[in-house]
Amino acid sequence: METVETICALRERLRGEKAISFVPTMGNLHEGHLELTRLARRHAGCVVASLFVNRLQFGIGEDFDRYPRTFGEDCEKLERESVDILFAPNESELYPVPQEVTVSLPKIAEALCGAHRPGHFRGMATVVLKLFNIVQPDFAVFGKKDYQQLHLVSKMVEQLDLPITVVAGETVREADGLAMSSRNRYLSEAERREANRLYFNLEKTRLAWLSGKTDCRSLEREAKNDLEKRGWQVDYFEIRDAQSLERPGPSTARFVVLGAARLGKTRLIDNLEI
Ligand code: PAJ
Repeated sequence: METVETICALRERLRGEKAISFVPTMGNLHEGHLELTRLARRHAGCVVASLFVNRLQFGIGEDFDRYPRTFGEDCEKLERESVDILFAPNESELYPVPQEVTVSLPKIAEALCGAHRPGHFRGMATVVLKLFNIVQPDFAVFGKKDYQQLHLVSKMVEQLDLPITVVAGETVREADGLAMSSRNRYLSEAERREANRLYFNLEKTRLAWLSGKTDCRSLEREAKNDLEKRGWQVDYFEIRDAQSLERPGPSTARFVVLGAARLGKTRLIDNLEI
């Protein structure tokens, strides 16, 4: 694997590549990220991963400074997956001047996580668009774990006519159901034992829905109550239209249940398609 740090060197290296698959990450890689690189490999002969902790998508008081940075280990993992190129720019490479030009997203970016992390998705989409312009991939692979992010990136690609196919990877979980996440390492031992309760409630809601209990509000309330009773602070727990992410309506064909909640200082998100 080659590690490239500058935009100029990356463009030079990628010139002439026939098909490129791209996996953007913020590092501290786990099996979820690695599964995306395997998926990327199935789509193109050249797999590029990026590692950049994007300050622009973190709010004031969020975990930018303490976000786990494990560059050496990440490189070894990507090397083992035979990723061809790691793009690991430093901050001044991607943001040599204050980033005043940003991506404006559809209204749905203000719901769910957007309602609790103002500006997060704008910062995310802005860096993703920059990375797309730098790498110019044919395929870009994103995890369903961040369902709203995947949705918004797909909208951006579609409505800005980017010549990229967005590929979605399934959520990779720990044995007890907890969705893998770089933030899981913030959890204390006791919190880690409790952490799969979010998934438990998603699954419970999914099964209740499938068994014919389709009163969204009462299913959502039940799950929220369960989590809050156990000490979680719930940002949201909602059944939504899987295609639009709006509240379900008569035209909804597919449903997804999404949750975000804090356990101590750690904010966890997860979702399940119904
Ligand atoms: P990061 O949280 O590092 O995630 C990188 C990619 O891995 C995302 O597409 C995310 O959905 C996926 N991912 C994370 N956990 C996963 C899991 N358990 N199973 C499957 N996929 C998983 O998401 C970001 O970084 C950033 O917002 C980024 C897109 C890189 C822009 O800065």
